[in-house]
Amino acid sequence: MFDTKSLNPILSKNLSGNISHFRNRDIKAYLFLPDNISDLANLILKLQQNGDSFLPLGGGSNFLLGQVEDTFLISDKALPRKLEICNREVIVSANFNINSLNHALLRYELGGLSFLSGIPAHIGGLIKMNAGAHGRAFGEFVNWIKVIDNNGKFQLLKKADLALGYRQSNICGFVYEISLQLNQVDPIEEKELILARIAQRKKNQPLTYPNLGCFFKNPPGASAGRLIDQAGLKGKKIGDACVSNKHANFIINLGNATFGDTLKLIELIKSTVYNKFKINLENEIEVLGK
Ligand code: EPU
Repeated sequence: MFDTKSLNPILSKNLSGNISHFRNRDIKAYLFLPDNISDLANLILKLQQNGDSFLPLGGGSNFLLGQVEDTFLISDKALPRKLEICNREVIVSANFNINSLNHALLRYELGGLSFLSGIPAHIGGLIKMNAGAHGRAFGEFVNWIKVIDNNGKFQLLKKADLALGYRQSNICGFVYEISLQLNQVDPIEEKELILARIAQRKKNQPLTYPNLGCFFKNPPGASAGRLIDQAGLKGKKIGDACVSNKHANFIINLGNATFGDTLKLIELIKSTVYNKFKINLENEIEVLGK
């Protein structure tokens, strides 16, 4: 969820020349939309040479952004989309939305990722955070990924290189391609599973409001949503940032929530849960800027 008031993006496909000419006193953030992998690698190399840091945005659903003047945002939306199938191996560009991928795979009678249905994410982001639900994690299905590292160099990393854990990996750089090992499925049954997962999310999660998904990781052996609920925080508001009444691990925007409101609410949730249960909640969402 972008705080659009603080994000004033520059959209540029012109990556030749010195990127410093995009700098401007009035600009708060820089967003690049490279449309091929080679431009992407050149962009990352130039950023590295200039000493600038970058952030791969993926679907953009896992970030709470404030003022990020010093970070260059790179979207994968204009990059080519790829989907290659060889038996049960699927090689797919990281800019595929998981829901589009799940539907596209039905015609090849392949599946297994229905547990992720309804998450508004690109699969590059899903592997970076090893996203999961219903006791499964995306990383279980990954053979290898292709990355442009922070120096603009191409790398192929096998699953064992990724240090996958609960909602974490050691991936640095920009993921642009992923190989998955999927299951042979009955497409009718798989479609039913996908629809059931989406229906379940709609029932249990406040998806009619702008939201950040589950904000906190589940602590070992506990549920962040239940802890926040039991701490009496449902409906708690700071400005228009609000703990959802439907699922307490969701922070929703009632209209004009600012980055500052949301940060204050996060701190309130963390301190209240700590004081009551002596449990430190850890962010699942990445918070960047000020
Ligand atoms: N609960 C409450 N009050 C609440 C919310 C939940 O008591 O306000 C209780 C529920 O009744 C249930 C337990 O807490 O007994 C767990 O709740 P839920 O089944 O909703 O699962 P969760 O652990 O809160 C995880 C993922 C979700 C995913 C669901 C579905 C994390 C941090 N979250 O939520 O993923 O959709 O399981 O299995 O692992 C996301 O990643 O954005 C996300 C929402």
